[in-house]
Amino acid sequence: MTKHVLLTGGGGFVGSHVLRHLMTNTDWTVTLPVTFRHKGVPKRIASALETNPEWWDRVDVVYCDLTAPIDPVTAARFGKVDYLFNVASESHVDRSIDQPGPFIENNVRLITNILDYARQAKPSLVLQMSTDEVYGPAPDGYEHREWDAIAPSNPYSASKAAQEAVCFTYWRTYGVPVVITNTMNILGEQQDTEKFIPKTMRAILQGEPATVHVSPGGRPGSRFYLHARNLADAWLWLARNHKPQQYGDFDRPSRFHIVGEREVDNIEMVHLLADLMGTGDPKLDLVDFHSSRPGHDLRYALDGGKLAAAGWQAPLSLEESLRRTVEWTLRHPEWLGLPATEVAR
Ligand SMILES: NC(=O)c1ccc[n+]([C@@H]2O[C@H](COP(=O)([O-])OP(=O)(O)OC[C@H]3O[C@@H](n4cnc5c(N)ncnc54)[C@H](O)[C@@H]3O)[C@@H](O)[C@H]2O)c1
Repeated sequence: MTKHVLLTGGGGFVGSHVLRHLMTNTDWTVTLPVTFRHKGVPKRIASALETNPEWWDRVDVVYCDLTAPIDPVTAARFGKVDYLFNVASESHVDRSIDQPGPFIENNVRLITNILDYARQAKPSLVLQMSTDEVYGPAPDGYEHREWDAIAPSNPYSASKAAQEAVCFTYWRTYGVPVVITNTMNILGEQQDTEKFIPKTMRAILQGEPATVHVSPGGRPGSRFYLHARNLADAWLWLARNHKPQQYGDFDRPSRFHIVGEREVDNIEMVHLLADLMGTGDPKLDLVDFHSSRPGHDLRYALDGGKLAAAGWQAPLSLEESLRRTVEWTLRHPEWLGLPATEVAR
């Protein structure tokens, strides 16, 4: 049966991939509450729908800053919502370190307003997009498991941990059917150049050194990168297959880790990108992260066994994810802030 999804953050990087995935793989309708002042970009929505213009008939875009409560007129415009997919957040560690107050305030207000809306609208599922960063750095050889201790290192991860706490509370107090997912670093087409992969591609194309944060001993950070399409696929899988845990039967809401297939250190990632771009050996600028970015963690790692055991498999491998991202970005250099002439080879 067709469903109606309220998808926040649809003008953002991850949200626009979720939108495209829902259009491609379901007949569901989607309402997008958007602002374009928190890194949302209208072109991402247009681009997610451009291959099939008839998809516009299934999508309603509503201007809505989620730091304000959702008023009854806007709620009526949303219509009957079956699933609420909450992707929206301020999302960049460095900006959170520069200006922690507004950053944390945005993310906490946003989740409170979304969940207040959910109390009234009563969707059967609220998916909350969280991050590996809420657990803090992972010791060597260890992958955080669902419900490990929360120990955020910077204002961004603190704001995401706060969102989780608000989710837990609304689940426990009001019975909102929250499912929290923690995701590793995401890559894909149309990511903002403030993030590592597009920033690195841009540096390589301009013949500049790619900055990589390393420990005082010179060891690079590492991540389990995941394509945004894989994240979208995992969310669709959860919406179709998972019944949210309820208070009374369980002492905590459902939580799943969504993880890339293997660990890649950030020097290896620069080389993988340069290989795919065909630009030869990249130049590197290794920066001691302790002095340059206090609050930055060297290694994140999550155990994705729970979701895999439940039956979800990622559709895209890391190599395929990177290949698609690089090829698309070279054809659309404006997403790196570069004119086409600079990437013509
Ligand atoms: N990108 C990653 O590597 C990564 C990894 C783990 C988790 N996440 C989480 O994924 C989500 C999306 O990240 P992204 O990379 O797409 O970020 P993004 O900055 O590209 O998009 C964020 C979206 O949130 C919206 N938003 C922010 N504040 C809002 C507000 N007050 N009202 C309405 N909309 C608002 C923006 O308009 C934008 O559409 C975030 O919740 C982030 O914490 C991202």
